[in-house]
Amino acid sequence: MSQEAKIDRSPKPMRVLLVQTIAQGESRDHAERLADEIERLAVSAGLQPVGRRYFPLSRPHAGTYLGKGNLETLATEVIEHEAELVLFNHALTPVQQRNLEKALAAKVSDRTGVILEIFSARAQTREGRLQVELAALLYQQSRLVRSWTHLERQKGGVGLRGGPGETQIEVDRRLIRERIRQLEKKLETVQRTRALQRRARQEVPFYSVALVGYTNAGKSTLFNRLTGAGVLAEDQLFATLDPTVRRIRLPNGEKIILSDTVGFIRDLPHQLVAAFRATLEETLEADLLLHVVDLSDPEWEAQQESVEETLRDLDVGDKPLLTLYNKADRLPPEESGLGERMAARVDSLVISAVTGTGLDTLLATLGERSRGNCRLLCLRLPITDGALLARLCREGQVLERHDDETHIHLTLALSPIARGRLEADIQPFITLSPNGEMPVSAPE
Ligand code: GTP
Repeated sequence: MSQEAKIDRSPKPMRVLLVQTIAQGESRDHAERLADEIERLAVSAGLQPVGRRYFPLSRPHAGTYLGKGNLETLATEVIEHEAELVLFNHALTPVQQRNLEKALAAKVSDRTGVILEIFSARAQTREGRLQVELAALLYQQSRLVRSWTHLERQKGGVGLRGGPGETQIEVDRRLIRERIRQLEKKLETVQRTRALQRRARQEVPFYSVALVGYTNAGKSTLFNRLTGAGVLAEDQLFATLDPTVRRIRLPNGEKIILSDTVGFIRDLPHQLVAAFRATLEETLEADLLLHVVDLSDPEWEAQQESVEETLRDLDVGDKPLLTLYNKADRLPPEESGLGERMAARVDSLVISAVTGTGLDTLLATLGERSRGNCRLLCLRLPITDGALLARLCREGQVLERHDDETHIHLTLALSPIARGRLEADIQPFITLSPNGEMPVSAPE
């Protein structure tokens, strides 16, 4: 990762107090699960959660988000916990953020701020980095209370820590606007190049499969397991921001392209939608989507729905999709029926990326799906041509074989790419071509 994308990880992580409000009619359980999520986000951003506080709230206060009484309670807790940062699991307006900082005598950030921090540290491709920088600038533009970006690149992050650039950035709205314009221009160029590269890749007709899913569902773990690649897999949200692509060979010999993507999250800050889409766009052109769902998370249904909704928004709602209910090993015994019910659903498998449960079935299913892309071919080879037979077995899948004294008769499934590679060598031996025509001439 480049220097500029590194998060500032000082030896002592910043102490953060989490704030979760409970809306009218919302259960405490639900609020707790939302707070669990913001806590994981905070850890992913390199912060140290030291406490959390729930406040019932019917309507946010325009100036300070929380009402006077709640604010006083919170100010006391900030002191008790020695919190340096108060993180609200809600979107705060710039005015609310500023007023809260004054009232609490601590830094204040919101959900958008912390997600930006993580995206900024994790973006790896050039476009991902540009998109995140742009999103962070748009977010900061109206706040201008923090140091960030080109004024202090070596610090990285989006400014939860503040710093010496503060006054400079305050007087420098013009510079920010200029930087935004520059970034937009750069992005245009990067996107044009990417479109060209994509077209080139499309000409290689491998069956391609993309992992999608809610953040922390286990996509990278599964990707690693299937590819043996050292892709980052950690118990942190958004461990991957940019898609990672590998070619794998299935047990049936088929080769497919597998890509990992950035995790989805509900209520993604609007500033980040473009960055998120950019990282996904390419991936979503896959032939098949594997939607990984963390079945051990009490919120799994809402997460599954939110991913499916985003897929519809991205116009890929009707692409072939296989749902993988993951982390089956974490289901308590009393929930075992849940796994069975999910396994019975159409186009669904129950798996564990950690223990490997269900992965054989997954690979076999991928084999069948990718073979759907293959064409059948009947061949009659001289029994003496062992070298060609070995190549055919390597490149394609033999579905039927019988030998007579002089010839081997094969029914073979071949992907278009393998067919292209073998065409010249197999042409004389084809007895039945894919479109059902009889062979040119089969040699004796
Ligand atoms: P993002 O990058 O945030 O989108 O996450 P991801 O979906 O790629 O999740 P990741 O693979 O990083 O896994 C998140 C956490 O879940 C890690 O701690 C994994 O070890 C754990 N995990 C993943 N799959 C399983 C599983 O099958 N069983 C169990 N017990 N843990 C799992």
